[in-house]
Amino acid sequence: LINFTRDPGDDNTPQPGSVEHYGDGLLWLKGQHIHAVGHFSELAPSLPEGCAVLDYRDKLIMPGFIDAHVHYVQLDIMASYGRQLLDWLNDYTFPEECRFTSHAHAETLSNVFLDEMLRAGTTTAQVFGSSHPGSVDAFFTACKKRRLRMMAGKVLMDRNAPNALLDEGSGITDTERLIEDWHGKDRLGYSVTPRFAPTSTMAQMDAAGALLRNDSTLWLQTHLAENNSELDWVTELFPGSRDYLAVYEEAGLVGPRSTFAHGIHIDNDMRKRLADRGANIAFCPSSNLFLGSGLFDRQAAYETGMAFTLASDIGAGTDLSGFATLKAAYQVGQLSGQPLTAWQGFYGLTMGNAKALSLDSHIGQLAPALEADFVVIDPNATPLLSRRISHCKTLGERLFALMILADDRAIYETWAAGQCQHQRDTT
Ligand code: GUN
Ligand code: FE
Repeated sequence: LINFTRDPGDDNTPQPGSVEHYGDGLLWLKGQHIHAVGHFSELAPSLPEGCAVLDYRDKLIMPGFIDAHVHYVQLDIMASYGRQLLDWLNDYTFPEECRFTSHAHAETLSNVFLDEMLRAGTTTAQVFGSSHPGSVDAFFTACKKRRLRMMAGKVLMDRNAPNALLDEGSGITDTERLIEDWHGKDRLGYSVTPRFAPTSTMAQMDAAGALLRNDSTLWLQTHLAENNSELDWVTELFPGSRDYLAVYEEAGLVGPRSTFAHGIHIDNDMRKRLADRGANIAFCPSSNLFLGSGLFDRQAAYETGMAFTLASDIGAGTDLSGFATLKAAYQVGQLSGQPLTAWQGFYGLTMGNAKALSLDSHIGQLAPALEADFVVIDPNATPLLSRRISHCKTLGERLFALMILADDRAIYETWAAGQCQHQRDTT
């Protein structure tokens, strides 16, 4: 059983007290919550008589993975060839999102997406729907059925896209209705979702900002500075703004519950402004490599105190798996002389993301009173993984081998709210 409780720091030796590892751990559940965590030998005597004890010898239990930025409506355009951001949006993404006028399609995709997330060990995500409010109703309905902790929002976009996707006139009222129906109920939260500055008028972004001022428990998700052509377009559309981030600042969209995906092409001034507001950048390494967007500067984030989260960004991302996100983050790090340690990686996927998204009073670690969301990892899932891990001398080496070599097959079980929601097919 392993728990990543605090930022481990930059070194390949984690800061003391940042990792808890129990070779003989017991995770004691009561209903949907964690009741106690500790050494089996110490806790076992106090277990109530007749309670079920599951034996996960040779497995590794860790908190459920969190994906800070992902588009469920783009699952079917993963692996779309040969475009960078703006052409990728026009040629693949916008036509695909038009399909979500069909509620049946939204229901199907919500269920397929959640099954895939759970198969990959992800128990919580911050999710973009399409601009159709029904896409979010379908998604939250599917999440509620599985008792998952999820944030989502309907995309706000009222210009510069196909007419079928524009929500001029209805975007804000539809958002208000969705907040009323879903926000803060069960384990669901609403994330106000202007797509990015080029597809919203200033009036729409101002109205989104007013929603946030009106309710400080709402989240905000959008995109920022992913691609150079996007930057040029923003400069052209907002000639009066000091830089890209200033557009969002003027609308009141930058706060402690705001996630800006990518943040590749930003300077330290913008990083410090994000840090001052407690906002986070979602680092989406497989997406950034796939679209050829650029290399996120993790070192600059540390130096300026800017929080960053880890995310798949499907459908530009190439894999829903948290392991794959860590592998891509490591590769991006190597290309910039900043190799990601396994400690940073797994802390990021669990407690780091939980903290940056203000979810750490609910999830992110295995601790009493938190919600029982966790993954059971099988280090012997494949002959190769088993062989490589058997040669590791330390826990750090084993975690690093998982981060580079593991995939869905290593997710033996995924639990959410105290229930097993996914079991690997062992036949
Ligand atoms: N910028 C605006 N919309 C999108 C999107 O759907 N995906 C990515 N990667 N970037 C965006
Ligand atoms: Fe995205």
